[in-house]
Amino acid sequence: MSEPSSRVQKTIAAMRGVRPSILPSLLLCDFANLEKEVRLLEEAGVDCLHLDVMDGNFVPNISYGMPIVSAIRKVTDLTLDVHLMIRDPNTYASQFVDAGADLITFHIEALPRPSDLLAKIRSQGVAAGLAINPSTEMSHLLPWVGECDLVLVMSVEAGFGGQAFNPIALERLSELRKANGPDLLLEVDGGVNLKTVGQCTASGADLLVVGSAIFREADYCQAMTRLRREMQI
Ligand code: DX5
Ligand code: ZN
Repeated sequence: MSEPSSRVQKTIAAMRGVRPSILPSLLLCDFANLEKEVRLLEEAGVDCLHLDVMDGNFVPNISYGMPIVSAIRKVTDLTLDVHLMIRDPNTYASQFVDAGADLITFHIEALPRPSDLLAKIRSQGVAAGLAINPSTEMSHLLPWVGECDLVLVMSVEAGFGGQAFNPIALERLSELRKANGPDLLLEVDGGVNLKTVGQCTASGADLLVVGSAIFREADYCQAMTRLRREMQI
């Protein structure tokens, strides 16, 4: 096995080994104290951080880019899951590989023929996946699922934290799980909280991205404990 593919396999095996797992989305965190935030999440027993990259073009919001990903890489060994909400993933994905991503997802809406980029990311030793918005027909995604290490089912339209969960994600998770068996990693993102997290795991989600339900709480550890309790199936 060549080096990049064994690194991908290692990442995927690690994520399969901890599922279901809650991935904090660092969108609402205290950016003036990023290292401290990461430590608090490590202390809360987090396995993987979800990093939301927005370009103000694919989505009507701007978050952060490569410098924040590499700054986080320098202070933690946690798995870094980078969610690219950008118009041109082809041009920028490699820069997120260099910044230290372990998993990269980009949107099928941004690149309707994703095979080459999925393969390129994997050839660089990083697990690759596709994300799909609730408003996009699943027929756009399905032909490519076999080429993905993970599929990210959005439960809000990409762009902002704090939106309400769209239950269409539950149907999509169940369908994907049924059609692909237990090996495919399924991720859900948007409006995942104490009320919805259990429904997501019951529908087959492995990786549960949570923003406001952690970062709007004073105690991340307690927030994680409560979410974990609700997601047990
Ligand atoms: C939405 C982002 C999410 C989001 C999660 O575009 O991809 O990661 O910030 O935040 P909550 O949990 O607040 O919906
Ligand atoms: Zn996200």
